[in-house]
Amino acid sequence: MALFDELHAAAVAARAKAHAPYSNFHVGAAIADETGRVHAGCNIENAAYPEGWCAETSAIAHMIMAGGRTITAVAVVAPRIPGGRFCTPCGGCRQRLAEFAGPDTTVTVFAPDGAHASFTMASLLPEGFSLEGRE
Ligand code: THU
Repeated sequence: MALFDELHAAAVAARAKAHAPYSNFHVGAAIADETGRVHAGCNIENAAYPEGWCAETSAIAHMIMAGGRTITAVAVVAPRIPGGRFCTPCGGCRQRLAEFAGPDTTVTVFAPDGAHASFTMASLLPEGFSLEGRE
């Protein structure tokens, strides 16, 4: 299976595990690492609302614990936002993804019906904070 399809399938499967009883907004994310392995995660909410976290953050935790260090591609599956827009990663997750991804890393956001759009990290987080120098 092509990596794109593998990431999509992993994000769909992760989304089915979402713990989102407060927003009812179920999200799955999958990231590929530098060895081609795929790591997935879902959003995990909490009765103390600010303590919940996003699917992308769960996926990053799984990558790091598996020994991965670089994100080479990202897929997110979520409901459409009211108005029909795709759900793109929140600001905090853009920063977390940028820690392990490059400016050209592709983030593909899928609606549940499979419709999708792709963005680069640089377009999602322009002028992002980093302690690493840029050429
Ligand atoms: N959420 C994600 O998991 N990923 C995103 O890209 C956007 C939002 C979660 C956070 C919260 O559990 C729910 O979606 C509603 O904001």
